[in-house]
Amino acid sequence: MRTALIAGNWKMHTTVSEALTLVDGVLGRITLSDDREVLVCPPFTALHAVGERLRGSGLMLGAQDVHHEAKGAYTGAIAPGMLRDVGCRYVIVGHSERRQIFGEDDAAINRKVRAVLAAGMRPILCVGETITQREAGDAASVVVGQVRAGLADIATTDALVIAYEPVWAIGTGVTATPSDAQQMHAAIRAVLAEWGTAGDAARIRLLYGGSVKPDTIDELMACPDVDGALVGGASLQPEGFARIVQYR
Ligand code: 13P
Repeated sequence: MRTALIAGNWKMHTTVSEALTLVDGVLGRITLSDDREVLVCPPFTALHAVGERLRGSGLMLGAQDVHHEAKGAYTGAIAPGMLRDVGCRYVIVGHSERRQIFGEDDAAINRKVRAVLAAGMRPILCVGETITQREAGDAASVVVGQVRAGLADIATTDALVIAYEPVWAIGTGVTATPSDAQQMHAAIRAVLAEWGTAGDAARIRLLYGGSVKPDTIDELMACPDVDGALVGGASLQPEGFARIVQYR
């Protein structure tokens, strides 16, 4: 009942020409099927060019961040409508790098989730605990708290996607075990059932992110509550990303 979503977060990588080479490499290696959506999230500067290249391909375009206001004197910021204008369907919001390096808090992230929905795009709300929080036994309460705060005062919608990205698994080569991922995803789905109904929660897609590789995707996708992946490093390699998209 949930269409899988495999998303590549290119982070701060690729010039425009590198982005086009990468997306051509992906397009040349994958065959899209109805049971899964594939998304690439290039840096802002490459969105327009990649969006043009993707036209008619079935592969979708997303952004890595957004500002919550629609327009105005916000030097350096990018509005939701600008992303929509270049063809973005999804926007990653609240990535742990935004939280940790750029100081975004739950309230700012909540404003972004609303702004993305209001602009008719789908937010991918990222949540995840640090290693210190996990070792202290606080992983579930931290993640549940981030989900609740991110969705505060927002009406239930299945346009929402949540990505569980344990901070200790990002860029480290250490993937959460399928059982850790499944456990946390089930906890997130329980929160979503309070946000809406159990039926609403069953329609919302939960992605896992953190060192997803061609050799770990199959077992992650076999978990009942893992509906896709948010892929960082491995999404910069067309062959590896194509294999992840073609998970079994
Ligand atoms: P890696 O796949 O490089 O660990 O990055 C995960 C991530 O942060 C995706 O948003």
